[in-house]
Amino acid sequence: MAVFVKGKPPTDWKLQVKSFVRDRYAHLAEADAFPDGGSGRARGAGYPPQWLAGLPERVSSAYCGCGYALDGVDLSGVRLAVDLGCGAGLDSRLVAEGLDGGWVLALDMALPMLRRAREATGGAAPVRLTAGDIEVLPIRGDAVDLVMANASLNLLTDKGAALAELWRVLRPGGRLIARELVREGELPDEIAQDPQAWNASLGGVLEEGEWLRLLGAAGFSDVEITDHRSFTPVIAVRIEAVKKV
Ligand SMILES: C[S@@+](CC[C@H](N)C(=O)[O-])C[C@H]1O[C@@H](n2cnc3c(N)ncnc32)[C@H](O)[C@@H]1O
Repeated sequence: MAVFVKGKPPTDWKLQVKSFVRDRYAHLAEADAFPDGGSGRARGAGYPPQWLAGLPERVSSAYCGCGYALDGVDLSGVRLAVDLGCGAGLDSRLVAEGLDGGWVLALDMALPMLRRAREATGGAAPVRLTAGDIEVLPIRGDAVDLVMANASLNLLTDKGAALAELWRVLRPGGRLIARELVREGELPDEIAQDPQAWNASLGGVLEEGEWLRLLGAAGFSDVEITDHRSFTPVIAVRIEAVKKV
């Protein structure tokens, strides 16, 4: 995990972006300043309505994803699922409740987010909260059955390296299921050239073809990008891929 020295902004731009992103999400969680309408967005994305209605508003309103990644996902046989950039823990909780004997590792680099995720998943025994960086996962190789990521991979500056890391930790036959943002063509200059756009999940948005190329280069098979939904000024999609060896 990148080390940041208090009072000294990092000079490397990748570390700067990571620092911006970490600080933004730490702030959202600490100040309870999540964008308005999180519960409604989760409902609109397709999370099971009765399940959502049973959650405390503080939990569902902290949803920051770009879709319902777990739609139709078969959790049978999953011993270890990892929620990368788990945020306030909505997906980690949902998976934990659907597992039969396995457990969920909920990972985020913003500590206040992990505290919120602890609140959200407190009753769910099989959730282990972990502070860490998606780009350097504290997980041994060939260990994970299901990697989930909801609106977190697009915040990474080196997605190719991150996908290689996901490939490393997945066991043969393991799956990646993500919700991510893609763009069609260039974004307007005021977004593309704004370093703060990374905070808003827009700076690092790739085109769909770039995801296909990077997933293939990392070794993934059966790659599918589906369920395109408008997420102005970009598009939210579901990305699925399998580690076949
Ligand atoms: C847009 S939020 C999504 C949170 C959650 N997945 C959800 O659906 O509500 C992105 C999360 O990814 C985390 N994140 C971003 N980059 C990360 C990295 N390199 N390592 C670990 N967590 C990261 C942020 O701290 C934030 O909590």
